[in-house]
Amino acid sequence: MDKLWAGRTIGTTADLVDEINSSVAVDRRLYKRDIAGSKAHAKMLAKQGIITQEEADAIVEGLTGICEDITSGALEIDPTAEDIHMFVEQVLTQRIGDTGKKLHTARSRNDQVALDTKMYCIEEIDSIEQLLCNLMNVLCDKASENLEVIMPGYTHMQHAQPVSFGQHLMAYAMMCARDKSRLEDCKKRMDRSPIGACALAGTTFNIDRQYEAELLGFSDIAMNSMDAVSDRDHFLELMSDIAIIMMHISRLSEEIITWATTEFGFIKLPDEYTTGSSIMPQKKNPDVAELCRGKTGRVYGNLMSLLTTLKGIPLAYNKDMQEDKEPLFDSVETVKLCIEAFIEMIDVLIVDEKSMYESARKGYLNATDVADYLVTKGMPFRDAYNVSGKIVSYCLGRGCALEELPMEEYKHFSDMFEDDVYHRLALKTCVERRNSAGGTSPASVRAQIEFIREIAAQ
Ligand code: ARG
Repeated sequence: MDKLWAGRTIGTTADLVDEINSSVAVDRRLYKRDIAGSKAHAKMLAKQGIITQEEADAIVEGLTGICEDITSGALEIDPTAEDIHMFVEQVLTQRIGDTGKKLHTARSRNDQVALDTKMYCIEEIDSIEQLLCNLMNVLCDKASENLEVIMPGYTHMQHAQPVSFGQHLMAYAMMCARDKSRLEDCKKRMDRSPIGACALAGTTFNIDRQYEAELLGFSDIAMNSMDAVSDRDHFLELMSDIAIIMMHISRLSEEIITWATTEFGFIKLPDEYTTGSSIMPQKKNPDVAELCRGKTGRVYGNLMSLLTTLKGIPLAYNKDMQEDKEPLFDSVETVKLCIEAFIEMIDVLIVDEKSMYESARKGYLNATDVADYLVTKGMPFRDAYNVSGKIVSYCLGRGCALEELPMEEYKHFSDMFEDDVYHRLALKTCVERRNSAGGTSPASVRAQIEFIREIAAQ
């Protein structure tokens, strides 16, 4: 195939070289950003007198037409093109003639691709953030409905203390809030335009990088041309942030899968969010959660793949870097799909209040409350802990719950026990009394919801 970059070579390449070299199947997603970048470039070239205003106008108009035609489907992106940058430039020259050939003055595909992908990252961060806000709101809605719904809280997967389902869900909302702030943080650092770095060393033309950066919405420019064209830190930061989001989604997936088992029976998923089996007619599988858990592996792999690609690359641009886009796009598309799926699934999941409560009644979840009761009556905590432990062990032998043990038996362990202990041991009381900041009491969960709503509204 004949190349725009024929330069010193014969300008044709073997078919296999075309195949390995072509990235258009992947970078076609960048066409809008590529065209926006080229328009800004033409305007800057005209402002600096490097091309005429008429030439810039013709380029901008030609590019606008190309963008509209690709979007409408009237112009098909040639699958045999080398990449999206070459494709757009070629079509431009076909459409407006020789003026199109002036667009690439004081520019290289190296700074061009760095710019396009940076714009992609920034825009996608905004849409991932929006999805995270929606997820936070759904978690808040569900938590508000479940402030008083009691379930066992676990440590080591063993019954620990009673919590509300609302408190459990809000833990995930806090993760989303941190995910959002991580994205904002990495967005700040990528807010420097690479365009104008050219191939690696800058240019002999009197360009205005600052102006071009402003046209494209950047606050500033990348200060070293060699760094500008070979920096992919923002890919890695975004992909790390996405990996962490997926880790959170995967943990929640694991819980949803567990809660939906016959053994737990804490939740049910509506039929639309489950799938059946081709052989076992009774099956209702939580595939969405399983797939999100599974896709987390892919997203971690993407991050590792790019870290590995980059680690041996000397300055400045090397073609290895063309391999950066596939994992980035895959991570972005995967995380968006998974968050969207979760927004819907959390909204529709059906809570089996009774089954959560029945489970919370087993396993002496209120043993800490026996100890706390004695402490409020004046016993030092460590002693109270020992007394409570003995009572648990006694109840285990007797096959009863703490709240079922008669008062005369309590008195054998300590004469500090009075009838009010039964109220203190009720699971509802245990939850309500944990009203320390961040605790599981309804009042505290309400405060958490308010906190998250504010973050989600920003
Ligand atoms: N398709 C290339 C990429 O994605 C564009 C940059 C090519 N630069 C070059 N000097 N061959 O990285």
